[in-house]
Amino acid sequence: PALAEILNLHDFEYVARQIMPEKAWAYFSSAAEDEITMRENHAAFHRIWFRPRILRDVTNVDYSTKILGHNSSMPIYISAAALGKLGHPDGELNLTRAAAKHGIIQMIPTLASFSFDEIVDNAQPGQVQFFQLYVNKNREVARRLVEQAEARGIKALFITVDSAQLGRREKALQLIQDMNQEHTSDPSKVTKAQLGTSNVTQEASKPMPAPSTVLDPGLCWKDIFWFKSITKMPIILKGVQCWEDALEAYDQGLAGCVLSNHGGRQLDFSRSGIEVLAECVKHLIDKRDLTFPNEKFQLFVDGGVRRATDVLKAVALGATAVGIGRPFLYAFSTYGVDGVNHALDILKAELEMNLRLVGAPTLKDVVPEMVDASNLSSH
Ligand code: FNR
Repeated sequence: PALAEILNLHDFEYVARQIMPEKAWAYFSSAAEDEITMRENHAAFHRIWFRPRILRDVTNVDYSTKILGHNSSMPIYISAAALGKLGHPDGELNLTRAAAKHGIIQMIPTLASFSFDEIVDNAQPGQVQFFQLYVNKNREVARRLVEQAEARGIKALFITVDSAQLGRREKALQLIQDMNQEHTSDPSKVTKAQLGTSNVTQEASKPMPAPSTVLDPGLCWKDIFWFKSITKMPIILKGVQCWEDALEAYDQGLAGCVLSNHGGRQLDFSRSGIEVLAECVKHLIDKRDLTFPNEKFQLFVDGGVRRATDVLKAVALGATAVGIGRPFLYAFSTYGVDGVNHALDILKAELEMNLRLVGAPTLKDVVPEMVDASNLSSH
């Protein structure tokens, strides 16, 4: 269909399923085991209802915000996803370009299919980008990635902490096996994608292990403190799933947490980010007297966000912003950069309309009382 016929983010998924190569579709769409968590990521939003306010002047609405101190035209960022080229020859660069056009922030993945430098080189001057880190077992490789990110002006480090090993995505098993083989036989590919710069360390330029061994099951809090000691970038943990860990992150002086289950791709039967958000906010208020959204310690949610109403629910419950993964992958896999731009136009139009309809001229007016979240178990 023509792009103009794409009315919402779900439509991209529908088209992608029809036209994407089978393996690429399997990789993007798959989730762990029985995919219960992936479905729950959507279902949890369906348990939250609005309590709109009436008779407020919503002639002009403003959904712009700041994420970790940086301007963003909406409370939405592009979350990290590996292997963008599976869906389109320009892969992650589609996201970089659309993010520039729309004034939103892209989180660059460790396992991007373009090199880190290529993605940064394709950004506009002043364009803010974040970096997602998978912590390599070899900490010198991890150190290099962090130093490289900081040197190139990356504004925040999101360390993925839900991936002690790769979840079992049964739809994509064959593909991942193929990739593992390919990467062991053609190391240059992953080395380049992962390390980007020419002055890689001796160790880093050796053959890269398969994607699954880039993860370290030995990753601990002490490693997080070490990262804190080697970088000035704010550190955010991506993949926090209960208030106890969010509290620890706050107490350790980190900049925030993404309440996320990796799009349902890691532990099946983990709860949705929005559910965990309600729990974290409650305990951080009770135990540390914080308020949300909070500038010093920011909470983000990803997983299942498809509509501006989902975004506003997360904002109402205290999130600074939300991350979106698959819809942007499907958008560039089907229509290239135009698809991503259209997806972002749709989100902006939905934000404007729904802010009006809930009676909130700005995001600051989207307060907890604007939602009935009593059906969330953690509320
Ligand atoms: C991901 N995600 C992810 N996260 C991460 O920290 N590092 C990564 O390399 C990837 N790779 C990746 C690949 C694909 C194909 C998908 C779909 C997802 C998870 C991603 O950042 C985010 O948490 C989810 O995608 C959010 O859920 P939705 O928006 O896809 O429902």
